[in-house]
Amino acid sequence: MKITVINGTEKHGVTYKMKEIFLEQFKKDAEITEYYLPKDCPNFCVGCITCFGQGEHLCKDAEYIQKIEKSLLEADLLVFTSPAYVFHATGAMKAMLDHFGYRWMPHRPAKEMFGKRAVIITQCLGAGGKSTAKDIKDSLSWWGVSYIKVCSFKLMSEIRWDKIPDKKREGFAKKLEALARKMKSIDYSKPAHTSFVTKCKFLAVRMLQTGLGKDNPEYTDFKYWKENGWIDNVRPWK
Ligand SMILES: Cc1cc2nc3c(=O)[nH]c(=O)nc-3n(C[C@H](O)[C@H](O)[C@H](O)COP(=O)(O)O)c2cc1C
Repeated sequence: MKITVINGTEKHGVTYKMKEIFLEQFKKDAEITEYYLPKDCPNFCVGCITCFGQGEHLCKDAEYIQKIEKSLLEADLLVFTSPAYVFHATGAMKAMLDHFGYRWMPHRPAKEMFGKRAVIITQCLGAGGKSTAKDIKDSLSWWGVSYIKVCSFKLMSEIRWDKIPDKKREGFAKKLEALARKMKSIDYSKPAHTSFVTKCKFLAVRMLQTGLGKDNPEYTDFKYWKENGWIDNVRPWK
């Protein structure tokens, strides 16, 4: 199986340790590709809207975005990690997610996303881990991913891994290992179930795109929906 990991920080700190514990069980037989932010996606979206209007290949940062996107589309399991920075995902993670605005369902979602599984790992000192996970989950679910498991931790003591009391670290490891076992037991030859909510969102956007296409059949997003057969009876889920 293939796993693509997007690390919201380059630091080999607590988030990194947690991600390593989660991945441990997959290391023998999975092909794991990791991206570290901001190194692997160093620039901000500048709002030029070229991706929306003309195509993602014309983005000034296409070399970074297209590489990450290829890995995401090829993966069976997506893993996103981030510490809470002032209650939210790191700026580097947000900067990367902004670049994928064109993949949100109201624009040009990738059909592969509707059958994917994802894990989000976040941690914070005291508060903000859940809102950090939500920042990432918002994008994943609007990309079309229904199966998303969130693992969020509160350190409540120390923010240096080695200084965290053993008992607490063991508790974190137990939870991460249990999630890894669950994710490992999945038959990845079958796509994940697409949820009712995701289907409703898709059908609402389909109505929107149908209307936009009547006004302008050359509209980039409408053409994409039409080419995929989604304006007709084809659906991106099985
Ligand atoms: C800029 C910055 C902002 C942070 N904001 C929060 C926060 O809002 N809530 C919180 O509980 N911890 C906060 N923390 C602590 C982190 O979430 C995290 O626990 C800590 O950085 C250790 O993780 P790391 O080793 O992976 O970087 C913050 C840390 C930094 C550097």
